[in-house]
Amino acid sequence: MKLNADDRLFVLTGAGISAESGLATFRGSGGLWNGHRVEEVATPEAWQANPELVWRFYSMRRRDAMAAEPNAGHKALAAIEQKLGERFYLCTQNVDDLHERAGSKRVHHMHGTLFQSRCERCAVPFADKGIYESADTLPLCEKCGHAVRPHIVWFGEIPLDMDGIYRELERATVVLVVGTSGSVYPAAGFVGIANQRGIRTIYVGPEEPLNADAFDEIVLGTAAEMLPRFAS
Ligand code: OAD
Ligand code: ZN
Repeated sequence: MKLNADDRLFVLTGAGISAESGLATFRGSGGLWNGHRVEEVATPEAWQANPELVWRFYSMRRRDAMAAEPNAGHKALAAIEQKLGERFYLCTQNVDDLHERAGSKRVHHMHGTLFQSRCERCAVPFADKGIYESADTLPLCEKCGHAVRPHIVWFGEIPLDMDGIYRELERATVVLVVGTSGSVYPAAGFVGIANQRGIRTIYVGPEEPLNADAFDEIVLGTAAEMLPRFAS
């Protein structure tokens, strides 16, 4: 991938970019956690029915993410951002903080972030690395006493700042998509929008995504293997 001096790069990442840091992808793990389908623990309905189960799931993911380190793929994207400055925008579907820990600054977490929580009622996200694994330790809002939930976009909820994402997508000249199966919308539709606008589109991952036909180029290989080549 060669970039020109006036290119504007929009990057979309998915679970695959964190795979080589030891964090399981969704489809790779069969989408299962302790016998539950991810959809069973990542929905508003699951939260209503069993907040303890939901907090145990996200506590485990907090623990896993804290134990993981950014890999060469995250670092390569941070190096590309260093060169492009404000002509770079990174939209991630991931809730881990490995992009930030690799040095990325312009990161938008469209599906929320693992290390923030928010009161259901006050709805203001705050930093939280807490581990909540039993019914009597579930967090409550200090201001109003309502339940505190993970600041995560669940199935059936609207991803964060879609307006900002579409604005960035429309002014990009190159769209680079890394490590996402192309199965969850709206993110899976970004490449189609880029196509309609004549924006060059590239996919990087070890296997073709479901929306492979929509890409101009497919680079088969892992993120840690391929992205450093783009950064040099
Ligand atoms: P998936 O688990 O659906 O897809 C992961 C993709 O990463 C697959 O296409 C793999 O081929 C690819 N992959 C695996 N190892 C890789 C590597 N080393 N380098 C690069 N790519 C690799 O994950 P997502 O597409 O991110 O949503 O899933 C999208 C959304 O579905 C998630 O954000 C989550 C999930 O349910 C919510 O939680 C709302
Ligand atoms: Zn509150």
